[in-house]
Amino acid sequence: MKRYRWGIIGTGHIAGQFAEGLRILQKAQLYAVASRSEEKAAGFAKQYAFERSYGSYQELLNDPLVDIVYIATPNHLHSSLTLEALAAKKAVVCEKPLGLSPAEVQQMNQASESNHCFLMEAMWTAFLPSMRILRERIQQNEIGEPLLLKAEFGIHPPYDSQSRLFNPAMGGGSVYDIGIYPLFLFHYLLGTPVSVSSEISLAPTGVDMTAVMTLRSQSGCIASLLSSFACDLKSDAVIVGEKGSLRLDRMFHMPTHLYRQLRGEQKETEVPIDYIGNGYNYEAEEAMRCLDEGKIESEIYSHAFSYELSNTISKVLKKKS
Ligand SMILES: NC(=O)c1ccc[n+]([C@@H]2O[C@H](COP(=O)([O-])OP(=O)(O)OC[C@H]3O[C@@H](n4cnc5c(N)ncnc54)[C@H](OP(=O)(O)O)[C@@H]3O)[C@@H](O)[C@H]2O)c1
Repeated sequence: MKRYRWGIIGTGHIAGQFAEGLRILQKAQLYAVASRSEEKAAGFAKQYAFERSYGSYQELLNDPLVDIVYIATPNHLHSSLTLEALAAKKAVVCEKPLGLSPAEVQQMNQASESNHCFLMEAMWTAFLPSMRILRERIQQNEIGEPLLLKAEFGIHPPYDSQSRLFNPAMGGGSVYDIGIYPLFLFHYLLGTPVSVSSEISLAPTGVDMTAVMTLRSQSGCIASLLSSFACDLKSDAVIVGEKGSLRLDRMFHMPTHLYRQLRGEQKETEVPIDYIGNGYNYEAEEAMRCLDEGKIESEIYSHAFSYELSNTISKVLKKKS
């Protein structure tokens, strides 16, 4: 069995979650971590039992023993760090959103191809058993032709103009941070939308605070999606078809509960979902499976998928490029 030496860039909240996820994977070697501060890197390495720690991101990229890099920095650094890592011939798993525009994502995808190095957006939800089961059941026509998707994600973080959530220079805004999950769900279940419209309210920094999004699929399914930093929402999702509905309970983007209710049934039935670990293990497992097979992209979450999702985000945010 080939084991892969992971290098983590950034030592914040999600880096810790991801490291926890890696710990249960036999194929993963918790090798190196890099921070802008040597002290933070050493502390993180000690906490999660990494072998090496570096006080700069570049040192980790210069280490020839690192096989695969996980980028866990704020959004504005995803593109530049991914390009540097790919140029250093590392495989890359980069946090969502992969880039801040379709053009950035395209450049990152092209760098993966020209360097023949694996690249995948770390949209952990895409690799969870709940998502696979949900999509399979829809494809098996369990609820009939999908007619409506409703999904929301709302949190109420304290307003701080300098934080990664609200600072435009760091790629802030609710859609990049959490609205990406309902938008991902649309793409994952229904494909690239044929129409996208939105109403946006802004935070004082100018980034989107709340977005109400309306999409239509090629097949005619319509979607009502919500993203907000202004309030805590239930953050669930339901897809309704001609024969019934499937619902993911609150925090639908996590390993969560799935319920089915067919037309005429009085109550929902829970669909059993087994999962292991904290959920972040699944995306890491998929990356290593792709590396075993010599692939530069995942079939579950391809380069084109990231590009199309970024395109939809830019339409929601009414960006020029
Ligand atoms: N998949 C998920 O469930 C999930 C959940 C939350 C966030 N995310 C994504 O993960 C990324 C990081 O989010 P997070 O919540 O982990 O953020 P965080 O706790 O603020 O951590 C980000 C880390 O990035 C590094 N960094 C580099 N430049 C920075 C700068 N100018 N300001 C602040 N930090 C900087 C820091 O590490 P060093 O100081 O060690 O260099 C920091 O600890 C974002 O892209 C976000 O979209 C994903």
